Amino acid sequence: MSRLELIVAKDLADLAKAGAEILARKIEHAVRARSRCAIGLAGGLTPRPVYEALGNGEISETLPWSQMDFYFGDERAVPIDHPQSNYQMARQSLFRTHPDALGRVYRMPAEAPNREEASERYSRRLPDPLDILLLGMGMDGHTASLFPGSPALEERERRVVPVEAPRPPRDRLTITPPVIESARSVVVIVSGVDKAHMLSRALSGPHNPREIPAQLARHGTWIVDKPAAMRLLSL
Ligand code: 6PG
Repeated sequence: MSRLELIVAKDLADLAKAGAEILARKIEHAVRARSRCAIGLAGGLTPRPVYEALGNGEISETLPWSQMDFYFGDERAVPIDHPQSNYQMARQSLFRTHPDALGRVYRMPAEAPNREEASERYSRRLPDPLDILLLGMGMDGHTASLFPGSPALEERERRVVPVEAPRPPRDRLTITPPVIESARSVVVIVSGVDKAHMLSRALSGPHNPREIPAQLARHGTWIVDKPAAMRLLSL
């Protein structure tokens, strides 16, 4: 298993630039090795500036868009155009000037009436392994929609499951630990002083993914800004 790599950016804008550059490098590496790149996208708010930098800056012109396939680490049970839809956030940022790529974006149908069946269907669609998995981390240490103490953290067979989040939107679909563990490359992005305590626990504390699910990605590349890193580096 690869070793943790920590990159501390000055601020969120610097994090977005670093995140886009690192993802672009990993995409190109995957396409060189296997002609295609399967990327699992993170939701929430932090990825948005990274997606803006990756999808609309100079970097975006260097990307092999037609050889990239996009998936999601989790999705909320909301309509596709809902402001809290992870797909909608990506469509408005990463794909804003590349709508042609939407044909290769496989969104998680979390709004489906039968979420068990939707999970099964998505599990079959989700490449094993993903080439790149982008994740965020909540203040409570969750990642994707794997929350502390969730039974989904014990799942070893199914790769996507329906879960009940502790905060709205409660109904979601999420990838499970095997998907994080098998991804060829994991990138975690964390921003903001409100996550400093949890980031320090996640990266320097005892290994206990049931309590801090983001530790499932401890072998990955963590791109954080200085406010988030302040407890880590005792800045
Ligand atoms: C989601 C995300 C989730 C996110 C964290 C951090 O659907 O909510 O996948 O895991 O990465 O909650 O969210 P912020 O980036 O908004 O702080």
